[in-house]
Amino acid sequence: MEQKVASKRVVLDVLRGETVFPPPVWLMRQAGRYLPEYRATRKQAGGFLDLCYNPDFAVEVTLQPIRRFGFDASILFSDILVVPHALGRDLRFEEGRGPLMTPIRPEEIAELDRGGFHATLEPVYETVRRLRRGLPAETALLGFCGAPWTIATYVIAGHGTPDQAPARLFAYRHPAEFLALLDTIAEVSAEYLIRQIEAGADAVQIFDSWSGVLDEASFAAFCVAPVEKIVRRVRAARPDAVIIGFPKGAGSLYDTYRARTGVTGLGLDWSVPLSQAQRLQAEGAVQGNLDPMRLVAGGQALADGVDAILDGLGRGPLVFNLGHGITPETPLAHVEAMLRQIRSRAAQ
Ligand code: CP3
Repeated sequence: MEQKVASKRVVLDVLRGETVFPPPVWLMRQAGRYLPEYRATRKQAGGFLDLCYNPDFAVEVTLQPIRRFGFDASILFSDILVVPHALGRDLRFEEGRGPLMTPIRPEEIAELDRGGFHATLEPVYETVRRLRRGLPAETALLGFCGAPWTIATYVIAGHGTPDQAPARLFAYRHPAEFLALLDTIAEVSAEYLIRQIEAGADAVQIFDSWSGVLDEASFAAFCVAPVEKIVRRVRAARPDAVIIGFPKGAGSLYDTYRARTGVTGLGLDWSVPLSQAQRLQAEGAVQGNLDPMRLVAGGQALADGVDAILDGLGRGPLVFNLGHGITPETPLAHVEAMLRQIRSRAAQ
């Protein structure tokens, strides 16, 4: 293999296309309720949004999984829904119910207020600045935002739904307003990511958790086009920006997403078959894609899942991760076992 000068942060080398084995690893939602120290800080903070908007708490919970497990990347602690919140939409998190918002009406879309956007999000930028100073030099710092489609699903329904029927229906009944909503979210999200990069984020991830519920034409219009717009705008300001796209559930449409959005790295969910993952990896770095339930189960199911990814994708640029967020019932011992298994593999 060609020898290159490695940077301090292996995750960035891999995202830019280098193969490193054993691969670097981090986990989506690595700061969260499976950690006792997270649950303690969350209690101290009061509500979930108090964690997100208070840099002391947000820095602390971001660092907790790094201290405990030494992951190769750290992800800013916040939530994708702070973006519509900063556009003036109300947002609450209720224990056991997830996010709750007042559903937007079509005529409210033109009135979304961008005036206070960056002022509301200033604590997030401060969190990123402090994290970059507080993290070990070898730990990459990831910023993030939600993709416009996924944010729109919550803004329209006011809560999570299994198939996003309210947002799909809204899109077909009110196409002009719906596209304006995606456009507004794309524009402010690009600014949000640029500010995170300027504050010290090494790379950013765009989470499109609900990509998998759309037909082909709507996937192109609601997922690909707005993310492509974000990528273009971020790169206009920061040409070297490293951007991970995660269109969860996109299935066979992952290929057009990779080709058209211009993301640097591609987050794969666990339903992506190895043959497709290898084809996608030939075009650039991939990240993923262990089923989070294998991590909950542990034992042979976990060991087999980890080996399948290392054997199938370890010869190309791979950032080891889950195929979606870690769940609260995940035993800490299983995370430790997974890391031991990955890190004990001999270099290839
Ligand atoms: O990955 C990380 O560690 C960074 C932090 C992060 C959170 N949410 C913290 C969080 C990130 C990157 C997110 C993204 C996010 N938020 C997504 C996209 C990724 C995905 O999981 O699909 C979505 C759809 C949301 C919206 C959201 N936030 C939901 C649906 C929920 C409730 C689900 C749940 O697990 O309760 C949240 C709450 C949330 N965001 C929690 C955390 C740690 C749990 C809240 C708590 O502590 O009570």
